[in-house]
Amino acid sequence: MKKIVTALMEQGKGILAADESNPTANERFSALGIEPTEENRRRYRELLLTTPGIEKYLSGVILYDETIRQKTTQGVSFPEWLQSQNILVGIKVDEGLEEIPEVQNGKVTKGLDGLGKRVKEYTEMGAVFAKWRAVAVVGDGYADPAIKENAKRLAEYASVCQEHSVVPMVEPEVLMDGTHSAEDAEGAIIETVAIVCDQLQQSGVALEAVILKTAMSVSGKEAVGRADADEVAERTVRALKTAVPDTMGGVVFLSGGQSPEEAVKNLNAIARLEPHPWPITFSFSRALQSPVLAEWKGKDENADEAQALFLRRVALAIAADSGAYSESMEAFG
Ligand code: 13P
Repeated sequence: MKKIVTALMEQGKGILAADESNPTANERFSALGIEPTEENRRRYRELLLTTPGIEKYLSGVILYDETIRQKTTQGVSFPEWLQSQNILVGIKVDEGLEEIPEVQNGKVTKGLDGLGKRVKEYTEMGAVFAKWRAVAVVGDGYADPAIKENAKRLAEYASVCQEHSVVPMVEPEVLMDGTHSAEDAEGAIIETVAIVCDQLQQSGVALEAVILKTAMSVSGKEAVGRADADEVAERTVRALKTAVPDTMGGVVFLSGGQSPEEAVKNLNAIARLEPHPWPITFSFSRALQSPVLAEWKGKDENADEAQALFLRRVALAIAADSGAYSESMEAFG
């Protein structure tokens, strides 16, 4: 598992999250007038995964249950295709959110039933890492009522993964929704991530073989006077240094509704504060994909342009991951 962590966190590479559930993918398709069918989801994932050149930049891709079973037009399964490109295969193993009577006003992530069996099946398909996403809101005094239950479930899922030699990518996402400040986000990340890391350690999960997937300490989407990249970076690094033990195998960032430009700008500022105790990189979905989907619109004639845009967004994220991004790079290409 340590070798997988090292490969995923290789300097100069990042991770694509392409594991949107069918309802999420369909919502994004419908908003752009793309018919939300299984075949269109396959075509879109094929466009992303077969973009020439991404193998230079991507160490891993996270797939969804439907996607890991799909094939390219030439009949090569997506996991086999990724392996042929030297890109590690990841899989989303949680099954979305539920409300439970024990937790008031909070949502917990489900998916523990039959998890061992599913993880085993995914390993047979080539998956070597597995993601589970829980969400937390930035609230008064920060404590999300669901965080303890989510932390327990995250620790249990992580244990099951490690029993199968699969690297868990543990994602307690502090949501960007709301009007909160970056300072409030920092507090919420400290509290949420610390509870999750404690629970992982108490449950005997080996942190060296875990990748933490986290939000950045950004102002809420509806906040007035949003924090700039330097402030976001300072607050993000401080929160993570406070909450994440140095033994954590790696830390990757989700984009969480930031624009593509904002996400790379913030990542760049975070990278400029290196050295950090753990390797860092990105694991974006929307910040890499939203312009690509908007360009593609489900039409084959737009595929080349959409792939060029995708490669470009990935390359900019890679530049940001080493602190070498500048806004002027957005103007070219
Ligand atoms: P975003 O980058 O769109 O937040 O998605 C990352 C992810 O995997 C969320 O679970």
